[in-house]
Amino acid sequence: MRTKIVAGNWKMNLDYQEGLALFSEITNMIKDEITGKQEAVICSPFIHLSSLVQLAKGYNKVSLGAQNAHQAEAGAYTGEISAKMIKSVGAQYVILGHSERRQYFAETNALLAKKTDIVLSHGLKPIFCIGETLAEREANQHFAIIKSQLEEGVFHLGVEDFSKLVLAYEPVWAIGTGVTASSAQAQEIHAFIRAEISAKYGKEVAEGITILYGGSCNPKNAPELFAQPDIDGGLIGGASLKSRDFVDILSVFN
Ligand code: 13P
Repeated sequence: MRTKIVAGNWKMNLDYQEGLALFSEITNMIKDEITGKQEAVICSPFIHLSSLVQLAKGYNKVSLGAQNAHQAEAGAYTGEISAKMIKSVGAQYVILGHSERRQYFAETNALLAKKTDIVLSHGLKPIFCIGETLAEREANQHFAIIKSQLEEGVFHLGVEDFSKLVLAYEPVWAIGTGVTASSAQAQEIHAFIRAEISAKYGKEVAEGITILYGGSCNPKNAPELFAQPDIDGGLIGGASLKSRDFVDILSVFN
C-alpha cells in the first residue's frame, strides 16, 4: 500500500498570526475526524515553519514542509534559505519544481536536479512537481514534457534516493484556474509517470512511489480523482487555505 498524502501548499499567503490560527484549526479537525492512515503535510512560508513544527507535536498525522530550498549548502546568497536550515527546525518535506518557481524564478530541470540532491542529503523528502502548460498540451507535447522533467530533474538519482521522493503532477493550466484535469486525464498522466519510473527503476520502486495530483483540487472533485488507481493524494493550493475544505479533502482517504 502506497502512502496516501494530502499536502497543502499555502504559497505566499497568510501572515504569521493567520498561519498559526489556520494550522490550529486544521490540527484540531484532523484529531477529531481523520481515521485512516493518510498523512497531511502543510507547506507553509518559511517564516511560519518553526512555530508550526512545535504546534504539530503530538499530532502524528501532520507533517510540515517548505516550498523551496536553495541549491547550495551555505554561503553568500542573500535572502535564501538552505535545506540544512529547513531540516534544523524539524520540517520533513520540501516542494521542489513548482510551476510558479519554474515560471517566475526561471527554475530549470538542471537547477532542480541540484536542489533535489541537497534536499535529500539533509534527510528531507522532496515533493517534486512536474506538469505541462496549456500550450504544451494543445501541441500534444504533454507526455514528452513530463518525460523530460523526470529525466532531467530526478532520474539521475540512485534507486535508494529516488524511493524517498513524492511526485506531484500539476498541469499548469489547472493551477488556480478552477479548471481541474478530469480524473481520466490525471490518471492517464499518473500511469505514464509510473510506467516511466518502472522502466528506469523497476516495477517495485514504481509501485511504491506516492504520486499526488494538484490543480484546482477541492472537496467536490477529490473523491473521483483519488479513486484513480495511480493517484495517491493531492497537492492543494487554494483549498488548503480553508480548514474545512482541506480536512474534507484529507478525509477522502478515511
Ligand atoms: P490550486 O489548488 O489553487 O489550483 O493550486 C494548486 C497548486 O499549485 C498546489 O501546489
